[in-house]
Parts: sequence; C-alpha cells; structure tokens
Amino acid sequence: MKKLCLIGADGQLGTEISMALSDDARFHCTLLTIKELDLLNTDKVVEYFSNNSFDFVINCAAYTAVDKAEVELELNDRLNYLVVEKLADLCRKQDAFFIHISTDFVFDGTKCSPWTESDNTNPLQAYGRAKLKGEASVTKGIVLRTSWLYSPYGNNFVKTMLRLGSEREQLNVVNNQIGTPTYAYDLARVIVTICLDKNYKKKNGIYHMSNEGVASWYDFACSIMEYGKKDCVVKPIPDSAFPTAAKRPNYSVLDKTKIKEQFGIEIPYWRDSLKQCIKILKEYES
Ligand SMILES: NC(=O)c1ccc[n+]([C@@H]2O[C@H](COP(=O)([O-])OP(=O)(O)OC[C@H]3O[C@@H](n4cnc5c(N)ncnc54)[C@H](OP(=O)(O)O)[C@@H]3O)[C@@H](O)[C@H]2O)c1
Repeated sequence: MKKLCLIGADGQLGTEISMALSDDARFHCTLLTIKELDLLNTDKVVEYFSNNSFDFVINCAAYTAVDKAEVELELNDRLNYLVVEKLADLCRKQDAFFIHISTDFVFDGTKCSPWTESDNTNPLQAYGRAKLKGEASVTKGIVLRTSWLYSPYGNNFVKTMLRLGSEREQLNVVNNQIGTPTYAYDLARVIVTICLDKNYKKKNGIYHMSNEGVASWYDFACSIMEYGKKDCVVKPIPDSAFPTAAKRPNYSVLDKTKIKEQFGIEIPYWRDSLKQCIKILKEYES
C-alpha cells in the first residue's frame, strides 16, 4: 500500500483527489487542510515531515487569488514559492515523490500554437512569477501545469456563471483570452494514474495537463449557460473593456502530448467534462 499525503485537501482539486482516492485500497491517504497543517508555519511543517513519511506528497495548496496577488505580494510569494521550496526539500530528504500543481500563467501568451513544456516562460503577473519559482524548486517529482480549473467544489468560473445566469439577462465576457478549461475531476484521475505508474520515479519533470480543446472565456461562458439551461445572453468583449489588476496571457493553450505519451492517458474534451460537472451541480441542487 502506498502512503500518500494530500496537502490542500479541501480546495477544488484537493477535494476531487481525496474523493478519487477515498475507496482505493492501494493507497493509505493522509488528508491535510490548513486546520491540520498551516503551511505558513515552517517549524510545524518541518516537525510534521520529520514525524511522518510518505511515498507521495501531493501539493494542491496555493495562493490562487491572481488579482489580489498583485498587492499581497509577500503572501503570494510565500505560498506559491517558499512553501513549495520547503516541501520539495522535505520530500527529497525522506525520499517521497513530490507532485506539485502549477499554471498556464507561467507563459506570456504571445505564441499562437499550444505551449509545450520546453517553451520559454515569461509570466505577466506576480502569481505566475511566484508559481514559476515554485516549479523550479521541484527537482525530485512532477510539476503539473494546468489551466482554468473548475469543479463542483469551491469558487470558480462555472459556478459564478451559473449564479449570474440566474440573476441577469445579459453578461459581458472576454473573448480574446484563449485557453482550455480543466475539470478538476479529470486532473485528479491523471494524478492517481501517475501514482500508480510502475516507472513514476523515472518520469520526473514538468507536464502539461488540461482538458482537450480550445476556448475563449466567452465560449466557455456560452457553453455553461447552454448546459446549465440559463436564459442569459452572453456578449463578447475584449479584455481592454474589462481591466483587471493582473495581466493575463491572450493564448495559453497547453500542449499535452508529453503526458499522454508518458502515462498512456486519454484526456476528455472540455465540453464533455463541463456537461458532467454541471450535471453534478444540478444533482446537488435537487
Ligand atoms: N483555479 C485555477 O483556475 C487554476 C489554474 C491553474 C493552476 N491552478 C493551480 O492548481 C492548484 C489547485 O488549485 P485550486 O483551484 O484547487 O485551489 P483552491 O481551491 O484555491 O485551493 C487552495 C487550497 O490551498 C489551501 N491553503 C491556502 N493557504 C494555506 C496554508 N497557509 N496552509 C495550508 N493550506 C492552505 C486552501 O485552504 P483554505 O481554503 O482554507 O484557505 C485551499 O484548500 C494550485 O496550485 C493552483 O495554483 C489553479
């Protein structure tokens, strides 16, 4: 049985991973939320990992408020960089395989074809810069870059659109930022596949993982309204009409060739996964 530690277990991705592992007898899973272990308390983190050892440590905790990160620079840097550096170091010391989650926001969006793992990074905002420094500290393990994450749990674009779709008759959504939505359930399944791979130790490095396909936020919003059966008209606008504190890449579609080849996985198309998530949200409503 593999000993696995899941950090950030009550975030959107953490919840999906803990659900995916809950009945799996191949793993003994320790779930950590901020209540059990506050990552900002370095002494406690060091103490925890000197008393507990694992085969895998999966870090789903992060500072994810991309716009707020422009002012909460120190907190963003601590959680997305220094904490990751410390966890990576503690994992190396106890020979645990570290799986860490990063972002498409390490790219500047100036390319017009999907970004590969070997493409040059150039984050446009504080969040991406801290996540990139965090990535670099993972020398034994896997960094999974993902994009536009959503799930039935926590706050995300899908849940916001469904709520606004009930409240409003019309909504403006940006159509010149292109990427791929990712259902946290699909990413969680890939993480389980990685942990079950016989040769995972030889597969160190950075991998890209989002759903298949391409969308603008406008396309994404239109599909959410359609599958959620909301009578709300979505109008496309340029991002210049919707200024945000943090700059975002205009094109951040991730190339997933490497992860598909290395782990033999098939990735669902984003519209199919979106339908699944909205179905679950509807079940919770009724
Ligand atoms: N969301 C996206 O669109 C997106 C896109 C690309 C990449 N990512 C990356 O994907 C990963 C998972 O994202 P997510 O959307 O699942 O994030 P999330 O829902 O915001 O979850 C983050 C988790 O981190 C925990 N956390 C924050 N500060 C902590 C601390 N001091 N000690 C311990 N735990 C702490 C949070 O706990 P509390 O809730 O109690 O604070 C929460 O459980 C992150 O690495 C993120 O950068 C996300």
